[in-house]
Amino acid sequence: MYHELRKRGTSRMAIDEHRRDSWPNRLRGALRVLLGHTDIAAGTGGAPPAIDRERTHPQGPLIEQLIGGLPAPAIVLDREARVIAFNEAATSIAPALRRGEPALIVLRMPELVDAIRRAGTRREPQRVEFFERVPLDRWFEAFVTPVRLATGGDGHYDILLMTFNDLSPLRRVEEMRADFVANASHELRTPLAALLGFVETLQGPAKDDPVAREKFLAIMQGQATRMARLIDDLLSLSRIELNAHLPPNTPVELAPIVRQVVDGLQTLARDRGVEIKVTAPAEPLIVLGDRDELVRALENLVENALKYGAAGKRVDITLTRARTRADTPEAHIAVRDYGPGIAPEHLPRLTERFYRVDVADSRAQGGTGLGLALVKHVLNRHGGRLSIESTLGAGASFAMHLPLRTGEPAETGELS
Ligand SMILES: Nc1ncnc2c1ncn2[C@@H]1O[C@H](COP(=O)(O)OP(=O)(O)OP(=O)(O)O)[C@@H](O)[C@H]1O
Ligand SMILES: [Mg+2]
Repeated sequence: MYHELRKRGTSRMAIDEHRRDSWPNRLRGALRVLLGHTDIAAGTGGAPPAIDRERTHPQGPLIEQLIGGLPAPAIVLDREARVIAFNEAATSIAPALRRGEPALIVLRMPELVDAIRRAGTRREPQRVEFFERVPLDRWFEAFVTPVRLATGGDGHYDILLMTFNDLSPLRRVEEMRADFVANASHELRTPLAALLGFVETLQGPAKDDPVAREKFLAIMQGQATRMARLIDDLLSLSRIELNAHLPPNTPVELAPIVRQVVDGLQTLARDRGVEIKVTAPAEPLIVLGDRDELVRALENLVENALKYGAAGKRVDITLTRARTRADTPEAHIAVRDYGPGIAPEHLPRLTERFYRVDVADSRAQGGTGLGLALVKHVLNRHGGRLSIESTLGAGASFAMHLPLRTGEPAETGELS
C-alpha cells in the first residue's frame, strides 16, 4: 500500500481522496475499525485510507498537549496510520507532517514504515534505527508503541505512539573513538617496528660492528623519543579535556610567555634559517590562565611555523589587545609565517587529532598531528579560540584569542 500511495504523490492524493470520501468508503473504513483491522496491518491491496483534513480525532487535542511537553520528537497515529498529533521536535525529522494525513506518505524512511506496519499487525512495540542523509547525516532510533486508550464508557481505541532519539552524537563519538584508537596505535606501531628491527640487527648482523652500533643507537633514540612525545601529547590532551569544565583562574601575563617560547625555539629557528620577530605592546596583557598550557600551545604554533613555513625565512609573532565581536576585551597572539601556506580545504580539519596536510612531511619532522588539537583544547579551556588564515603560496597565520582579565592587577609572582 505504501508504494501504491507514494506513486500517486501527495497533492494528487489529497484531491483523489476527497473524491473517494464517499459513503461506501466511509462505511468500509468504519467497518475496518469495528472489525479490528487496520490499514497498516491489512496490506490487502484494497482502497487506500481516506484523507479527511476536517476530521479531528476525539482525543487529538489532549494527545497533542501531552506530547507537546516532550523534548524528543513524538508522533501519534490512529489505527489507520494517519497522523493524529505530533510535537514541534517531530517536524525536524518529517517536515511534511500534517494532521489527518497517512503517516506512510509523510514518513518516507522504509525502516520506519515497516516498523509501523509491524506494530499494527503484531500489536507489540517495535524499535528501529534509521539513517538520514538530508539535510545532515543523522542516525535515529524510533520506538513505535501500540497503545490502547479507554474513551470512557466501554469504548476504547488504538493509537500508535512513535518517539525518536537522535543517536548522531553517540555515533559520532563512537566513530571518533574508533578512529582515535586506530590512529594512536598506528603512530606507535611505526616507531616500535623500527626499534625492534634495529634491536634484531644489533643482536645479529651488526653485533660486532661498533660504527653501525653507534648509528643504529642514535636512530633508536630518535624513535623512542618520538614514542615518548606521542604518549606525552596524548596524556596532555586527555588531562586538558578532563579539566575542560574548570576554567583556570591564575592571572598570567602574556608577554613573558611569548619571550619564553621564542627563547626555547631559537635553536630550531637557527637550524631552519628563520628569523623570529616579536612585537608586543608596552602595557601588560593579563589573562586568567594556566601558564604551562599556554606555553605549550604557543610552542606548537611557533614550532609549526618554523617547521612547515621555514621556506619564508621569517616568522612574526604579534601580541595585541583587541575586542571580541561581543565587544569584550581580548588578547591576540598571532604567529605568522611566509611559507607555502595551507590549501583552504584543509583548514577546517587542522585541529582534528592526527590530521596532517602532508603526513610524510610531518612525520619526517617528528610530528604526530596532535599539536593543533592541543592548542584548540587549551584555548577552549581558557574561554578563547584559535583562528587560522592562510593563502596557498603566501604563508599562514595562526592566532590565539584569549579573554583578557578584567579587575585587580596580576600578582607579580605569577608573571615571571
Ligand atoms: N604554519 C603552517 N604552515 C603549513 N602547514 C601547517 C602549518 N601549521 C600546521 N600545518 C599543517 O597542519 C598539520 C597539523 O599540525 P599539528 O601541529 O596539529 O601537527 P604536527 O605538527 O604534524 O605534529 P605535532 O604538532 O604533534 O608535532 C601539520 O602536519 C601541517 O601539515
Ligand atoms: Mg605541530
